Amino acid sequence: MEFLREQGVNENLIQKVIEFREKYQVFESEKSRIEKPQMNFYGKEILEMAISAILEGENILLCGAKATGKNVLAENLAYIFGRPQYNISFHVNIDSNVLIGTDTFEDNKVKLRKGPVYLSALYGGFCILDEINMAKNDAVSVLHSVLDHRKIIDVPGYDKIHLNDACRFIGTMNYGYVGTRELNEALVSRFMVIDMPSIKEETLMQIFENEFPDAKKEALLQFTKLFMDLQKKAENGEISTKPLDLRGIIAALRTIRCGLKPVSAVSMGITNKSFDGFERDIVGDVVMTRIPDSMECFDVF
Ligand SMILES: Nc1ncnc2c1ncn2[C@@H]1O[C@H](COP(=O)(O)OP(=O)(O)O)[C@@H](O)[C@H]1O
Ligand SMILES: [Mg+2]
Repeated sequence: MEFLREQGVNENLIQKVIEFREKYQVFESEKSRIEKPQMNFYGKEILEMAISAILEGENILLCGAKATGKNVLAENLAYIFGRPQYNISFHVNIDSNVLIGTDTFEDNKVKLRKGPVYLSALYGGFCILDEINMAKNDAVSVLHSVLDHRKIIDVPGYDKIHLNDACRFIGTMNYGYVGTRELNEALVSRFMVIDMPSIKEETLMQIFENEFPDAKKEALLQFTKLFMDLQKKAENGEISTKPLDLRGIIAALRTIRCGLKPVSAVSMGITNKSFDGFERDIVGDVVMTRIPDSMECFDVF
């Protein structure tokens, strides 16, 4: 809550979140699923949109380019609302059995080994449906039934269960990603959709300072500017979004802290992520202006 206040999130919303947390208790067995996120999500407007939708009982879909903080936001929301978190990544071949559960033998009896959607429904969890646009039809039909107004899960051979009132689904999707399908209209209509903005310079600087409190400010500013330069080039279509990788830049900073020369670190974290020679040259030029060859790790940390 302190963090939300620091971000300037509306006090009225903060009060309602506190009420939500008091109203919905957490089952003892699920307490270990309440995880403090590794990173805070920065962005007051987006936080306010997401928090108000969730307070009003809505499920939300986070859409945006990669590294816009979709997963960080989803994890932050589960923690803010004090709910256990269950994750499904639709990268792999996820079908309805994975979502809801499969029959297993236990003590000579057939039992349902419950899947993440079922567990969220039962315990009022926040279920994160990562890269939901990769979902197969079979999985989509399960999502339709849990997300519609009946809020029921019906597993053949077992009891029907009603969704717990604290249960929410948070979908994430990257558009324009190879292999993704157009997300089915009927599925989208079941969510409130948040369009994740690309990152702002001040936000990025905040993230770096938070992540690397031991780094020199001036150096972090150069890394921030490097990212902004690349973002501008990607927006203008001069390069793809492949080298625009915040996770990569953070990883590069970590290796610099470890003692690696900044240019080498940035090659691994950014430049070498593009496999197109022409693009790599452009990225290399941008890197050179911000992270000169003469820069050493002790210039950064
Ligand atoms: N607004 C933001 N607040 C905090 N971290 C952010 C934000 N935007 C991007 N990031 C950073 O971007 C990286 C990738 O975040 P992630 O949530 O995995 O992105 P996505 O799921 O959108 O691809 C993380 O290291 C995270 O710190
Ligand atoms: Mg993601």
